[in-house]
Amino acid sequence: MLDQSLQHARSSQQQYLEQLFDLLRIPSISTLPEHKPDIQQAADWLAADMKRIGLDNVKVMPTVGNPVVYGDWLHAGDEAPVVLVYGHYDVQPVDPLDLWESPPFEPVVRDGELYARGASDDKGQAFIHLKAVESLLGATGKLPVNVKIILEGEEEIGSPSLESFVLKNKELLAADNGLVSDGRILNADQPSIVYGLRGLTYMELRVRGPRRDLHSGTYGGSVHNPGQVVAEIISALHDDSGRITIPGFYDNVRPLTDTERDALASVPYTLEQWQAETGLSLPWGEGEYTLIERMSARPTCEVNGMWGGFQGEGGKTIIPAEAGAKVSMRLVPDQDPHRIASLFEEYVRQLAGSHVDIEVINHSAGWWAITPIDSPEMRAAAAAYKATWGVEPVFAREGGSIPIVATFQKELGAPVVLMGFGLDDNIHSPNEHFRVENFYRGIETVIRYYYNLVEQR
Ligand code: BES
Ligand code: ZN
Repeated sequence: MLDQSLQHARSSQQQYLEQLFDLLRIPSISTLPEHKPDIQQAADWLAADMKRIGLDNVKVMPTVGNPVVYGDWLHAGDEAPVVLVYGHYDVQPVDPLDLWESPPFEPVVRDGELYARGASDDKGQAFIHLKAVESLLGATGKLPVNVKIILEGEEEIGSPSLESFVLKNKELLAADNGLVSDGRILNADQPSIVYGLRGLTYMELRVRGPRRDLHSGTYGGSVHNPGQVVAEIISALHDDSGRITIPGFYDNVRPLTDTERDALASVPYTLEQWQAETGLSLPWGEGEYTLIERMSARPTCEVNGMWGGFQGEGGKTIIPAEAGAKVSMRLVPDQDPHRIASLFEEYVRQLAGSHVDIEVINHSAGWWAITPIDSPEMRAAAAAYKATWGVEPVFAREGGSIPIVATFQKELGAPVVLMGFGLDDNIHSPNEHFRVENFYRGIETVIRYYYNLVEQR
């Protein structure tokens, strides 16, 4: 049965890839309101594919925000586990557009890499799950496990509507474990399983000074310049050793145990790989933590953007009326993303002083997640990677965030396996790509995982 399914997947590779092209052509950018119709189109496209491959109860379900696409196949019997598969069909914006070597919504394969916005994050990886199901149903007429699939359209903006959707649909989504492919493995030859994700609190600050831009000669020296205020705030967020200075920020950070530090130390991620990925030579940050600890197991505070004043060519002598910044913080166990938002706001208000007005906005607050390594589903996942790659996967933590994972674990009691197939794919950047081989290997790994899950029982 396994062999037939794998065979079916292999002989369908080209066709599956072409289908993915169609999905990637839809510019479903969740953060830009003008793309609402594309969001709907992507949802409808996925629902149609889910119906076609033989999933039941397929529906595009409205939420407070963008729709969730749902479909299931529940004929494997009561003995078999129910797996809840999650992915997202929304994508990041494409700017700066001029840095793309080919248009972001015109997918092409170059040197074995599929280039398009969403190729890796997450349309390509979400689609792996539909194609695994299609291969299994096509080859054998059934699945070894029960499967429920939900695909959301707001992950890239922090999944603002999904938690309440999950709470309202607990019965529909009830499952024994979760399965998410929205991340990366260590490198092309070394698979890895992520057992920890960071949380994220996203803030924006808007500093307003004079009622209009002022002549900097006439008024300079008498105004607390909003641009300067933003710079003062940002420069006060870290000390010289790379530590975050927001009072109370580290209060609930669970210290890394020696066992965990040893395990992270054995993850084969090198300085050279970091240098190649970033184009930098010297890592910055907390000196007492290793590179991999800083990147995945320590909390951070990053400026995502800052603006204000004149940015055209040449000079313009003004004091800007307004300046601002977007700042987000990656969080680790046991930090509370809502408390961090309040601590940030309090500190920033104090730093802004009393000569300007400041507005502090909390855009989103998502929880970190940890999944136990020693569980039947983790063993099933490890064996699936091993069979596909021929190499035992290592366990690693991920610096990025997938807010709904914590909700699945807490509200549905379903431990989530993070089965990523991405690499250093320029996600969120120009020239996002996904290795075609990993798309195919992903499908095979998921098929094997389902069979392994049943054996582990
Ligand atoms: N796929 C990423 C998460 C990720 C990033 C996994 C890097 C592995 C490596 C996901 O789509 C994402 O970008 N999440 C956002 C969440 C945020 C908007 C709440 C993130 O991490 O910035
Ligand atoms: Zn993303």
